[in-house]
Amino acid sequence: MVRDQQTILTLRRRNRLGAASTDLMQRGEMVARQADCVACHSTPSGKPFTGGLEMGTPLGSIFATNITPDRETGIGNYSLADFDRAVRQGVTPDGRRLYPAMPYPSYVKLNDDDVRALYAFFMNGVQPANEPNRQSGIKWPLNMRWPLALWNAVFVDQGIYVSKQDKDELWNRGAYLVQAAGHCGACHTPRSLTMNEKALDDASPLFLSGALLDGWYAPSLRQDHNTGLGRWSEDDIFQFLKNGRNKHAVVFGSMADAYNNSTQFMTDEDLKAISHYLKTLPGDASRDGSPWAYAEATPVLATAANSAPGAQTYATRCSFCHGVDGRGKNEWIPPLAGSAASLIEHVDSQVNATLNGSARVVTAGVPDAYRMPPFRQQLSDHEIADVLTYVRSSWGNHGGPVKAEDVKAMREHTDPASSNPIVLQMR
Ligand code: HEC
Ligand code: HEC
Ligand code: HEC
Repeated sequence: MVRDQQTILTLRRRNRLGAASTDLMQRGEMVARQADCVACHSTPSGKPFTGGLEMGTPLGSIFATNITPDRETGIGNYSLADFDRAVRQGVTPDGRRLYPAMPYPSYVKLNDDDVRALYAFFMNGVQPANEPNRQSGIKWPLNMRWPLALWNAVFVDQGIYVSKQDKDELWNRGAYLVQAAGHCGACHTPRSLTMNEKALDDASPLFLSGALLDGWYAPSLRQDHNTGLGRWSEDDIFQFLKNGRNKHAVVFGSMADAYNNSTQFMTDEDLKAISHYLKTLPGDASRDGSPWAYAEATPVLATAANSAPGAQTYATRCSFCHGVDGRGKNEWIPPLAGSAASLIEHVDSQVNATLNGSARVVTAGVPDAYRMPPFRQQLSDHEIADVLTYVRSSWGNHGGPVKAEDVKAMREHTDPASSNPIVLQMR
């Protein structure tokens, strides 16, 4: 019985696909990786692409939907044109407007070939699964979808990415991946009160200039010396996106999701293109502050009794990994000296990481040996505020103090069990 169903399924898929289209489907699988569809449309416990991930937005929670080719609960009845309209314009076949938690303001820039390939993958490479969708928790009147028509008219760029003639192929490939499928700006570009990204391409200095979303601060990907990629080489960026780590940083927070499920699967050529493109986006010295340089801190072990309140906690809880000198260990433990998160005024990422630890970084199927442990149970709000204040004012860091209230608020708004720590299967 089970086998019969399998056979019917296979036949149906073969019919829809045609032998020559396997290439198209494989290309679609790669675009789905670049676009990280799986990160939102799957949960670790559910079948691939059956939806259900709850996303916190300033308006309330939203649930990503079932996008398997199931005809009843998924997108099995979507034509290519229906699929295109949902992915690039945010409108479903019945005219429902999607909330921009689905990053169609970026996907609108996808070219026709990539959309066709994506469709081939979702219709033929993904198993249909019958899983009804959940209702969003957005309260009236924002749960009315019609205002989104207006939102779209004003904020969504209406066209696919157009190559710049004065730039070379590598640059254009990088710009396309970053702006369209990669939707890096969905996290790294600041949003206005109406939730739209303030810029969708490099014409604006606000594009990828750093933003706070869902308890994590995604730093500037521009050439800011302190809080951006000014001190990173193209190869450093490449290593970070491919291996999840380099001498400056290790992925954590929501970037661990983007890394585990998306960037590590991109080809070397594509990652080089992204790194090349990002290195050409100028920083903004007025926003960035005085350039960071390493400075020795008061030796915490010798003078713990007299030194800053957090020094003792740092010595006993953190220095084992991050080093007494704050420089971390090789590429395995990131430095806290000079990291973007230690220099940015927003404390969210550091408070969140210290309270809840970090998702495991899984490279090519192998989980890493060291990770940031959660201190939620071991340390009080005051102790976390003090130790981070110590971190943020040592070794030349000048990110500013952390208040116990910041830690309390983050503690109440985060649930360590809800993080999405693993590589999600697409098939
Ligand atoms: C950042 C999270 C996120 C990513 C990444 C994402 N989606 Fe979505 N998607 C959503 C959410 C949330 C909804 C539901 C929005 C709503 O209910 O208004 C949605 C809705 C959809 C729908 C509409 C389904 C329906 O009929 O309700 C389709 C189709 C879809 N996404 C396809 C994709 C594809 C294909 C990709 C990758 C190219 C993708 N999504 C990537 C969050 C995401
Ligand atoms: C889901 C949100 C999200 C998406 C999508 C995302 N990022 Fe990130 N990114 C973050 C967060 C949060 C951080 C800070 C944590 C860290 O450094 O790992 C970060 C950090 C980074 C850093 C390190 C910056 C530093 O100074 O330490 C780089 C480089 C980066 N992202 C590149 C990218 C690129 C390229 C893309 C698109 C292909 C992308 N990110 C997409 C959330 C995101
Ligand atoms: C077992 C080793 C270990 C210990 C102990 C540890 N960390 Fe970490 N920490 C890490 C690793 C590894 C990362 C990178 C993220 C990951 O892979 O989990 C990290 C990341 C961080 C980050 C985010 C990176 C950044 O630039 O801000 C902060 C903040 C941080 N740790 C603070 C602390 C503090 C404060 C303590 C002590 C209370 C501490 N860590 C103890 C291993 C450790």
